[in-house]
Amino acid sequence: MNGAETWTLPPAPPAGSIKVAHLTDPHLSNLAGIEALELRDQRLLGWLSWRRKRRRVHQRATLDAVVAAARRGMPDHWCITGDLTHIGHERELSEAAEWLRSLAPPGQLTVIPGNHDLYIPACSQAALEAHWGPYLKDAGDAWPRLQLRGAVALISLNSGHAAPPAFATGALGALQRTRLKACLAAAGAAGYARLVLIHHAPGPGMDKWRKRLVDAPELANILQHEGAELVLHGHCHESLSRTLAGPAGPIPVLSAPSASATGEHGCRSAGFNELAITVTTRSVTLEATGVQLGTPPQRTLHTTLPRPGA
Ligand SMILES: [Fe+2]
Ligand SMILES: [Fe+2]
Repeated sequence: MNGAETWTLPPAPPAGSIKVAHLTDPHLSNLAGIEALELRDQRLLGWLSWRRKRRRVHQRATLDAVVAAARRGMPDHWCITGDLTHIGHERELSEAAEWLRSLAPPGQLTVIPGNHDLYIPACSQAALEAHWGPYLKDAGDAWPRLQLRGAVALISLNSGHAAPPAFATGALGALQRTRLKACLAAAGAAGYARLVLIHHAPGPGMDKWRKRLVDAPELANILQHEGAELVLHGHCHESLSRTLAGPAGPIPVLSAPSASATGEHGCRSAGFNELAITVTTRSVTLEATGVQLGTPPQRTLHTTLPRPGA
């Protein structure tokens, strides 16, 4: 299954519901044991940025508080939309894998890489697969990757690419976009509610030029034609509720703050999204609450969409 353009899915169950905790951008690793001298490439810039600011912006104690708050919602599934590390060093990827194991087993968690996890893809790709392998789903090199949870299809994208120095752009590339188109079509035809995970904001103009998804126009075009019921992303470190055009109406697009941000040094406080997805024979109802430490929870989405294939 899952060759370049062929996806074979069993028919979706007639109904079901799932609670999802969406956390993103924990940047949880500690670079204290990694010396600048061993970094002879672009990762040196990332190391300097961590020394100067990031180590104070992202704190493990804050992340632990966010995880504890998310656990209280008793999620059935965890979605982590990238940037678990700072510079994608093998030691960081290993530390991140330990954190993933502390959250949930692979059947109950989906993680995708962010630009920091693939800081220099050629350096990090093999270590990423080695350490996160059980959580990356659907073994093999090609993305997207697919995981079925009841009547929900989780479709994971990898937007990590070789960005120029001082840029935090992402890209899917032609092969991944071709596979995504086929995957969305197959999952929709089989009756699944399609939940797309991507690190970068998926639409044109949704993020700064320096941080954009380079092929966002092409992705938005695929989503407009094939449809999806929800897109979750990270990278922007803030809670946003937006939409992209879909074939049967707007597709909700949600982001969340960094799960470890202290709220100091000009950054927003940590938080996460709590989602309830309810699938009936004819509809998909999405309810999302944005939880930010120190502020009352905010309902960010409540909508009912037609079920694909109904
Ligand atoms: Fe990030
Ligand atoms: Fe990022």
